[in-house]
Amino acid sequence: MNFKNYILNGLLCAATVFMPFVSFAQQRKSNTAAEVKFINTELSDAVKQYKYLTANTKADRFPKAYFPKNDSLATSASEWWCSGFYPGTLWYLYEGTKDPATLKAAIGKLADLKKEEFNKDTHDLGFMMYCSFGNAYRIAHTAAYKEVLINSARSLASRFDPKVGLIKSWNSKDPSEYLVIIDNMMNLELLFWATQATGDSSYYKIAVTHADHTLKNHFRKDYSSYHVVNYDGTTGAVKQQKTHQGYADASAWARGQAWGLYGYTLMYRATKNKKYLEQAKNISSFILNHPRLPKDKIPYWDFDAPNIPNAPRDASAAAVMASAWIELAGYTTGQASARYLNTAKEIVHTLASPAYKAKPGTYGGFLLMHSVGHLPAKSEVDVALSYADYYYVECLIRLKKQFTK
Ligand code: GLY
Repeated sequence: MNFKNYILNGLLCAATVFMPFVSFAQQRKSNTAAEVKFINTELSDAVKQYKYLTANTKADRFPKAYFPKNDSLATSASEWWCSGFYPGTLWYLYEGTKDPATLKAAIGKLADLKKEEFNKDTHDLGFMMYCSFGNAYRIAHTAAYKEVLINSARSLASRFDPKVGLIKSWNSKDPSEYLVIIDNMMNLELLFWATQATGDSSYYKIAVTHADHTLKNHFRKDYSSYHVVNYDGTTGAVKQQKTHQGYADASAWARGQAWGLYGYTLMYRATKNKKYLEQAKNISSFILNHPRLPKDKIPYWDFDAPNIPNAPRDASAAAVMASAWIELAGYTTGQASARYLNTAKEIVHTLASPAYKAKPGTYGGFLLMHSVGHLPAKSEVDVALSYADYYYVECLIRLKKQFTK
């Protein structure tokens, strides 16, 4: 072989070895570009649809649900637990698109919500104030929003009883009842924020104590969770483990599993304590390995609903799970991480498909169809819900950040 052929031969061999890597890299680049395009399209569709929702909503009201059976949009006053989701979604949409009209609507809605900062009758201040003012402060850095958040954290912390070691979720007429629901895990994010913002560690300690008691008393051996635990308010002993919105006391209510998954993922983010990471991974295994998790990963409203496969699905639970898995993928490695992220992406694509995404100008302006609020009470079954939209848009923002970092 002469020198020229020797070089050519070398180049050919190198190309054979490196070509697959080059084309793999190119493939990955074009997949990422397609994902970013998909997310941007979803965000811009959502902005258009939310303009319709905004036009349908009176100034002092908060969109809550849409009932397709009688074509009606339900709204609430600011004290309803869901009031923060609509402004929070607007803030996310502004963050993702920089649409000025969306920003105007987002700012306007906060003025109506502000008064809830002193509401001590609800544990849902995390949902109400952190999803709204928390995002607003993160994005706009407005000092007045910080003040509202600190006041809200103080109001939430007032519901913590050190004798029980938990924030009381629901007030009861019966003074012997101290009711705590798994949903309460979501409200802890506001407390962690407050410790960071003020340097007062009492909020952090309350959140950790609450999460530790919940981990001990809300979970079964298979890492599914009860919806409600009733404690003895004087001793902190567990009196009952039961449901309110699920099918049965011993069943796995889908959204409750989602709140737990998201809750322990955020506990790990805030504390870096491995036991919370393990809890989030174990809850994930319960959900992902469940024989009744449908192929498209949008859960039935309860994993133990009696009429599966004809039971209603719950898009809200799917959106909460997907958002948690996007985050959890970042705290894990290898197959587990890939499984969380791929499942989350699969859920988001399914929710964006015509099977779940409302057609423009329909559903009162909500984004997603097919959620379940409270089936045992025959309330909000197979409807659009403000929190399904919120966590869906949160997924889009979280994925966009992953693809564009
Ligand atoms: N209780 C809040 C929820 O329905 O998830």
